[in-house]
Amino acid sequence: MNYISSLDLSEKQISELFSISDSIAKSGTHPFSEPKRVLALLFEKASTRTRVSFESAMSQLGGSSIYIDSSTSQISRGESISDTARVLGMYVDAVAARMYKHSDIVELARNSNVPVINALTDLEHPCQALSDVYTIRKELGGVDGKRIAFVGDIAANTANSLMVIASKMGADISLVGPKGYRPNGKFVEAARKRSSVDISSSMKDGLKGCDVVYADTFVSMGQEAGASERMKLFCAYQLNESSVKYAKKGVRVMHCLPAHRGVEITSDLLDGARSIVWKQAANKLLLEKAILLYLLQKK
Ligand code: CP
Ligand code: NVA
Repeated sequence: MNYISSLDLSEKQISELFSISDSIAKSGTHPFSEPKRVLALLFEKASTRTRVSFESAMSQLGGSSIYIDSSTSQISRGESISDTARVLGMYVDAVAARMYKHSDIVELARNSNVPVINALTDLEHPCQALSDVYTIRKELGGVDGKRIAFVGDIAANTANSLMVIASKMGADISLVGPKGYRPNGKFVEAARKRSSVDISSSMKDGLKGCDVVYADTFVSMGQEAGASERMKLFCAYQLNESSVKYAKKGVRVMHCLPAHRGVEITSDLLDGARSIVWKQAANKLLLEKAILLYLLQKK
């Protein structure tokens, strides 16, 4: 089994992953039943949290990891993704890949005989969404019936994966961003199978009644060329003391990080009492352990 897309998981599977995470949180990390598992991390883009949490997760589970910066691999000299996948499967037990094009990770998985995990592509960030929804469940006492606003670049990878995983667990979604930037219909349609998804360009309307407000960078990796244009359009969508007043009084503030303080979110919110951002970051290690245990024990 691979974990390429948030669309791959059923509600039951998400609950199973959350139970594994609860059990690790309660009684410590259970090592792999077959130790010495090896994970390859094939990364085309920068990473701090995802890379380090996967590497630590493998180490704490009794396995190990190998980081491959794709710019120093033979991919950079034209070796195909499919040949790379075939060979990596001869040496490792799973591959976590961070790639620009989502179609490349699909190609990687199609040619891999070991599980492939999406560590972020231009279309999705499904591991992030799992730890984010787990954080909401833990910090707000449940996900069902909660209203989550994703604010800013609602066409981003993080928004796509979050709306699918959160809606599968019963949350209602509000997507708030400038006109001209709209989410991929495939994810909205999937999320609407279980919950409501409202799309708005008004902070006042979009944040109304929300239990959680979520921010991400206005310029995702790979979009640097359009950065100045984006900044002009997105600056009205900053999370700050004034804008969060539109949400519920006890609203919780989330951000996948890295944050650009003073751009998409202010420091007072990021570091303030309503922030669960640092819990989100911490939970990545927990959920990545759960994902690894789930995929590698079931291989
Ligand atoms: N949230 C997240 O994926 O962070 P990194 O880019 O540092 O891995
Ligand atoms: N949307 C961001 C997420 C970073 C974790 C990006 O793709 O750069």
